[in-house]
Amino acid sequence: MTANNLTGRIPPGIWSLEKLLFLFLSANKLTGEVVVDGVFGALNLLVIHLAENPKLGGPIPEGFGLLQNLGDLSLHSSNFSGKIPPSIGRLRSLRRISLDNNSLTGILPSELGQHSPELWYISVSDNELTGPIPKGLCDNGKLEMFVAGNNRLNGSIPKSLVGCTTLTHLQLGNNTLSGRIM
Ligand SMILES: *[C@@H]1O[C@H](CO)[C@@H](O)[C@H](O)[C@H]1NC(C)=O
Ligand SMILES: *[C@@H]1O[C@H](CO)[C@@H](O)[C@H](O)[C@H]1NC(C)=O
Ligand SMILES: *[C@@H]1O[C@H](CO)[C@@H](O)[C@H](O)[C@H]1NC(C)=O
Ligand SMILES: *[C@@H]1O[C@H](CO)[C@@H](O)[C@H](O)[C@H]1NC(C)=O
Repeated sequence: MTANNLTGRIPPGIWSLEKLLFLFLSANKLTGEVVVDGVFGALNLLVIHLAENPKLGGPIPEGFGLLQNLGDLSLHSSNFSGKIPPSIGRLRSLRRISLDNNSLTGILPSELGQHSPELWYISVSDNELTGPIPKGLCDNGKLEMFVAGNNRLNGSIPKSLVGCTTLTHLQLGNNTLSGRIM
């Protein structure tokens, strides 16, 4: 259902469909907040694409942090706000996460990278994120891309990121990082 001029809200009941594996709703004209009705039952989701819906947002549902099979979470260029649920940092199947170009605040989940053996792509630029760059982003030895410019990240760049040999794209411009790069 990508790029279909879909309008209106995402029906809250969609998040209780136990057999739902893929949700491709990027590049539509969806509106309102992403609301979960009751218990989050769509626990088998592998892919969530809600990107490029400029009027779709609200907080990222906490339920996304329960999805142990989720490999691809793509929410960029929409209107998501609030904090990134810390549980997102513990998703063991996560390979790719793109949250760039929203209005997210708070910190990057401190455990991001440590529990996701296949995580290679992290894009969180153009938000209002604060706090440190998590130390374990490259712990799995797979990270290729970390794009986090245009935020308010502070502290120093972790040694483990500087020494990340798999990294091919690193973008940290326009933050308030400090200290020396070692
Ligand atoms: C984006 O979300 C904020 C609330 O977080 C809301 O006030 C604003 O109207 C939304 N913008 C659009 C274009 O929907
Ligand atoms: C950011 O998202 C808005 C829609 O919310 C879009 O119009 C704009 O092109 C995006 N900017 C970038 C740099 O992707
Ligand atoms: C730097 O990042 C902040 C926070 O996202 C943003 O408000 C500001 O517009 C950015 N500045 C430039 C020059 O892009
Ligand atoms: C980073 O910013 C937060 C407030 O956003 C502050 O509490 C913290 O002390 C800062 N850390 C560093 C290392 O500058």
